Amino acid sequence: MNIKVIGVTKTFKSLSNSFTACDDISLDINKGDFIAFTGHTGSGKSTLLSMIGGILSPTKGNVFYNSYKLSNASESDLAAFRRKYFSFIFQHPVVIPSMSVMDNILMPLAFKDGINEVMIEQTKKYIELFGLKAKSNTRASNLSGGEMKKVSILRALSYGGEVLIADEPTNDLDPETIAILTDIFSTLNKMGVTIIMVTHAHAVATQARTVYEMKSGKITRTLK
Ligand SMILES: Nc1ncnc2c1ncn2[C@@H]1O[C@H](COP(=O)(O)OP(=O)(O)O)[C@@H](O)[C@H]1O
Ligand SMILES: [Mg+2]
Repeated sequence: MNIKVIGVTKTFKSLSNSFTACDDISLDINKGDFIAFTGHTGSGKSTLLSMIGGILSPTKGNVFYNSYKLSNASESDLAAFRRKYFSFIFQHPVVIPSMSVMDNILMPLAFKDGINEVMIEQTKKYIELFGLKAKSNTRASNLSGGEMKKVSILRALSYGGEVLIADEPTNDLDPETIAILTDIFSTLNKMGVTIIMVTHAHAVATQARTVYEMKSGKITRTLK
């Protein structure tokens, strides 16, 4: 597995102005990499992650996943591509309010090939580790913000894509859960999962093998 980000630029245009969130970024990501991006808010971290994961199309430049060119793919091909390879933890929690915690977590698996008992058992273990077992049947609308974030994370973990994209996964989490998640990330990475994340949490960044700093849409420094 290899991801090539080649001269990628993203410019958001409105009627009156345009803003370049990512500016000519190139990057090579290989299987088993554990990359963290840090940098001030607005520096383009989330935009870059979205382009790597085939959620946003670059204005200029290309992203290749192996030999597959994301930049030209149709919306439906991209959706299939994301389902096949990626797990996403978004910056803001995403839950379906009317569904239970358990259904929120397992739902995407129903759209993935090869769901099996082992995956369900692993998911139950994660739910217990995150202290949500007693809330498995609670409607997501009744959860606190932090609990919703946990559900969003658990959904990505249970989905088990070969590449995990995590945008500030530890925001809104208590220190205990941060420690648990850090361990899980480390274990997954040892198992060969490629992790690409944005984080300000020192504990998580130290687990990463590569840490890039972003400023004004560019990667300005390699901190590690
Ligand atoms: N859809 C959009 N339309 C217009 N501007 C956007 C859009 N998405 C992001 N931006 C702008 O691009 C810049 C970078 O955003 P983002 O990638 O979310 O930064 P970060 O994740 O580093 O905080 C910000 O100034 C943001 O306002
Ligand atoms: Mg962001």
